[in-house]
Amino acid sequence: MKITFFTHSTLGLEIGNFYLLVDPFFSANPICKEGENLIETSLKKIDYILLTHAHYDHVCDVEFLSKKFRDVLIISNYEISNYFGKKGIKTYGINYGSFIFFPFGKLKYTWSAHSSVFRDGVYGGNPGGFLLHSNEGKKIYISGDTSLTNEMNILPIFGKLDLSILPIGGRFTMGVEDAIIASDFLQCKKILGVHYNTFEEIKINKDEAKKKFHEKGKELILLEMKECIWI
Ligand code: NI
Ligand code: MN
Repeated sequence: MKITFFTHSTLGLEIGNFYLLVDPFFSANPICKEGENLIETSLKKIDYILLTHAHYDHVCDVEFLSKKFRDVLIISNYEISNYFGKKGIKTYGINYGSFIFFPFGKLKYTWSAHSSVFRDGVYGGNPGGFLLHSNEGKKIYISGDTSLTNEMNILPIFGKLDLSILPIGGRFTMGVEDAIIASDFLQCKKILGVHYNTFEEIKINKDEAKKKFHEKGKELILLEMKECIWI
């Protein structure tokens, strides 16, 4: 699986021939100066968009993208799926529950402790994350915006995680210290940090954060815009 970081919580996941985009935040993103141009230059094809919750810094470009990539399928909770479904976008609603099988692998919508409302005030259902087992045999966890929660303890039951993608910016989500505890809960030593340094309120020191993970025998990966990793 190839994972591309586009700043904030926006990620591209390439699994075989499938392209999944997570929480698109380009056009209104203060640190993504290229905005929609980055969509033009970096995204040639999107098959699925995974949305963790309805906050604007996670769903901002869904309508633009679904017009550009007509066949895209939005996968999110029931309420978010309904919201975009009413706008004529193809959606697949899920909720906390079983694994659901897709051509790229299987997904489970996981608990997160956060909130979820659209910018126009429409209720955005329960916020969540995704446990993704790819059909290439990789297991990743995308927590979405969340505090540290006890529910993370149950995720290793479903198999050893190759990578966990956790917010580390604090204030609205976990900060670095809690993300280290989360990685203990998840029994996963390899963490990709997201949701930091986009706004003043979630500024962190990247070197210090990496050092804190390293001191606990864990690896914190922090990527530059458009940088990729393979797992
Ligand atoms: Ni949020
Ligand atoms: Mn957020």
